[in-house]
Parts: sequence; C-alpha cells; structure tokens
Amino acid sequence: MIIGKNIKKAYGDLQVLKGVNLHIQKGEIVSIVGASGAGKSTLLHIIGTLDKADAGDLQIAGQSVMKMSSKELAKFRNQHIGFVFQFHHLLPEFTALENICIPAFIAKKDTAPTQKRALHLLELLGLKDRAKHKPNELSGGEQQRVAVARALINEPDVLLADEPSGNLDSVSAKALHELFFELRDKFQQTFVIVTHNEALANMADRRLVMKDGVMDT
Ligand SMILES: Nc1ncnc2c1ncn2[C@@H]1O[C@H](COP(=O)(O)OP(=O)(O)OP(=O)(O)O)[C@@H](O)[C@H]1O
Ligand SMILES: [Mg+2]
Repeated sequence: MIIGKNIKKAYGDLQVLKGVNLHIQKGEIVSIVGASGAGKSTLLHIIGTLDKADAGDLQIAGQSVMKMSSKELAKFRNQHIGFVFQFHHLLPEFTALENICIPAFIAKKDTAPTQKRALHLLELLGLKDRAKHKPNELSGGEQQRVAVARALINEPDVLLADEPSGNLDSVSAKALHELFFELRDKFQQTFVIVTHNEALANMADRRLVMKDGVMDT
C-alpha cells in the first residue's frame, strides 16, 4: 500500500530525513516512534502528500505521488488518505455530523448517502447521540473520535495519525487505540501511527523507530 524509497528531506542545513525506506502492506497497522525532532511528523506529512520530499520515490495505493501536480495531489489526498492529528482541527461552528461530512462534500459526493455514512460512522464510534453537538459540546475523547470519523468518510486506503491520543486521558486513549484495530478488521484500512504512547506503539503489527534520519527497524 505504501512504498517509500530513499526519501530525503532537509530544512535549510538541517537534513531531517536521510534516506527513509518503507514498505507497508494493505491492512497493516504500523507505529513510528523516535525521539522528539527525529523527523516523524515530517515523514508523515510526506506520506500524506502534504509536504514534498527533496528526493526519493513514494508510491501510495499503486500511484507514484512524487510526480503529481498540486491539483492532482489535492484530489488524491481527498480520495485516498485520511488524517488524524493531535489537535483535531474540527470546525467550531459546525456540528459533529457536519464536520464528518466536509471531506465528502469537497469530493462532490451527494448529501443523502454522505449523511447516512456519517451517521453510521458515528454509531460505530459510539457517538450516535452526539451528531448535533458542536465541538465545544463534546469531550476531548469524543472530539477525537469525530476527527477519526471525518478521516474515514471518504473510505481512504490509508489513515495517517500523528499523536492521535496525545491529548486524551488513558481511558479515552485506550478506547481510541482499540478503535483503530476494529476499523482495520472491518475495513482493511492501512494505518501509520506516529506516537510517543508505548502501549499503542507496541500494539501495532510493526513498530518502526526513526533515528538519525533513517528508519531503524
Ligand atoms: N518547516 C520547518 N522548517 C524548519 N525546520 C523544521 C520544519 N519542520 C520541522 N523542522 C525541524 O525538523 C526536525 C524534525 O521535525 P519533526 O516535526 O518531523 O519531528 P518529530 O519527530 O515529529 O518530533 P516530535 O516527536 O517532537 O513531534 C526538527 O528538528 C524540527 O525542528
Ligand atoms: Mg511530531
């Protein structure tokens, strides 16, 4: 599902990624750990096509993304990739249901089936009664689950998460982690999760360590 070869990225004189190689199968849950500043978020942004590598090759779902134009990338990202960040970035003026639907509307999907799927996701995530709540009327764990539902609305091949449970208490964090595994079992989605949470990192099928700009497997 994800093949990265010799991915390099520098910020000025700072060589953050020095040739990262990755091979992630469909349906696999991979965690990436490493010291602060090791380049984990940088790599995740590159895999997510939010940022461009300086060199190397990256294939996602059989497509070579390094050659795509920014317009092609925006479409590719919307259709194939879901993101969950440490801070959920939900839009405060919209309800949970509306927030979840936004990526589908950007993809020009019809309203009725989109809302149906969003409600189904809310139910799956144990949030059926919270559809009409705005983000400030939800707990932190609930907000994060809404963000997960939003990441899943377009049925992405790959779900990328950067410290998804960084702001959650241990009970909500555990529930969110279990949810990732349930989703993988149900939808065969591929997960790449950057985390400092050792429990989550060790639950993954594979735990990769970023060190000195390379993947130390
Ligand atoms: N836009 C940028 N411009 C310059 N330097 C950057 C930029 N983004 C990141 N860096 C630097 O690149 C290095 C890697 O950053 P990155 O965010 O990938 O680390 P990380 O492994 O995710 O760390 P953390 O665990 O703290 O989130 C850091 O030293 C950071 O200061
Ligand atoms: Mg980071």
